[in-house]
Amino acid sequence: MIAGGIVESRFVAGFSLVDHHLQCDGVDLRSVADAEGTPLYVYSAALIRERYRALDDAFAGYPHALHYALKANSNLAIGRLLNSLGSAADANSIWEIDVAQRMGFAPHQLVFTGVGKSPDELERAVSLGLKAINVESAGELARIEAIAVRQGRPARVAVRINPDIDAKSHPHISTGLKINKFGVPLDAARELFATLAGRPYLTLVAVHVHIGSQVTSLEPLRGAAEFVAAMALELRRVGMELEYVDVGGGLGISYDGGPVIDPRAYVEAIVDAVRPTGLPIVIEPGRSIVGPAGALLARVIDLKPRNAVSDFAVLDAGMTELMRPALYGAYHRIEPVHATDAAPCHYELVGPVCESSDVVGRDRMLAPLAIGDVLAILDAGAYGAAMASNYNRRPLPAEVLIDRGRWDVVRRRQTVDDMLALEHIGSTATVR
Ligand SMILES: Cc1ncc(COP(=O)(O)O)c(C=O)c1O
Repeated sequence: MIAGGIVESRFVAGFSLVDHHLQCDGVDLRSVADAEGTPLYVYSAALIRERYRALDDAFAGYPHALHYALKANSNLAIGRLLNSLGSAADANSIWEIDVAQRMGFAPHQLVFTGVGKSPDELERAVSLGLKAINVESAGELARIEAIAVRQGRPARVAVRINPDIDAKSHPHISTGLKINKFGVPLDAARELFATLAGRPYLTLVAVHVHIGSQVTSLEPLRGAAEFVAAMALELRRVGMELEYVDVGGGLGISYDGGPVIDPRAYVEAIVDAVRPTGLPIVIEPGRSIVGPAGALLARVIDLKPRNAVSDFAVLDAGMTELMRPALYGAYHRIEPVHATDAAPCHYELVGPVCESSDVVGRDRMLAPLAIGDVLAILDAGAYGAAMASNYNRRPLPAEVLIDRGRWDVVRRRQTVDDMLALEHIGSTATVR
């Protein structure tokens, strides 16, 4: 291992240092940055495959379906890759469903989650005949029913229950407590289930929980699985048989190189919890599949003194390309793509955006930087490009998928024309 925890090795999936050069799936990242410009997202196809298979194989024959959470990264090429591996998908809006279909996912491979689905979204979702609409309230269930009756087509629904479990993650991405806006409280869910016998246009196929994202201890995830299993058994006792249980996503990754939950331990825990029901398990992993498989490459565009001990290094990527540090105070390892053995200096790595929260890495020790150096912001494959914005009229970055020693630009860099394509000056602008 070298500083920063990147494994020094020649043929590994993902990011590795070879002779001081950071590579992704065998491709030198400096050459990709030089060819495609920065800021640039780079993804390792090999690592996406490896991480998908690790989760999938861990079920060891127990019936299950992996519904990749598109919100983590819905680049067409990445979705297509996961589709080709046999993944199904979890979509959080009707637009994600549209994109999922273009990736090759069929309606029966899609679950539709989301705390606020508009009437238009529900109308389309019902007409598509999805695997399930994960329902968030009694009102939403009634709206789905009305649409199903009008369309003459029963809707397959799962009820998302709020289990009041603390995921012990960052408060902004914890969703399983009563105070969070997500799901139906248990008592209300029981009341809803009791009404279903007389509602022929609603087919209850599952119960669903999702307690949060970047969950790094096993107990809350096990607790959530035990919760849905107990609910399934309770429903069975009153004659309501489910098709499966959905335990959501949330498996955390290591952003600092420290230990995290092994995917096998995670799957073993949820399978143990659900096995008494005999029901298939749906999981909705996002971050754990694509997070470590992506990095954001950024160039140093300015250096200036900060205080007696540190300098600012201004990068050409910031909160507009990777919002997580500014939004959640999230930590990402940051490494030069060309490592040197020079004594490290103290830097505050900041973005170019006009906000003081636009800090990509606080108090970092790195070998002396020069203008033009390329840095890799690691573990940026999930909730990175997907959350990018045009603030300060900054164009969305390009994205590259590296596979077997070559790369494809899977999203070109946005241009000002792309950005303005939807805008129109209108007549009021000419009135003085
Ligand atoms: C309902 C639901 N399922 C799955 C996920 C994916 O979570 P993660 O990326 O942590 O696996 C999310 C994201 O928070 C979610 O809201």
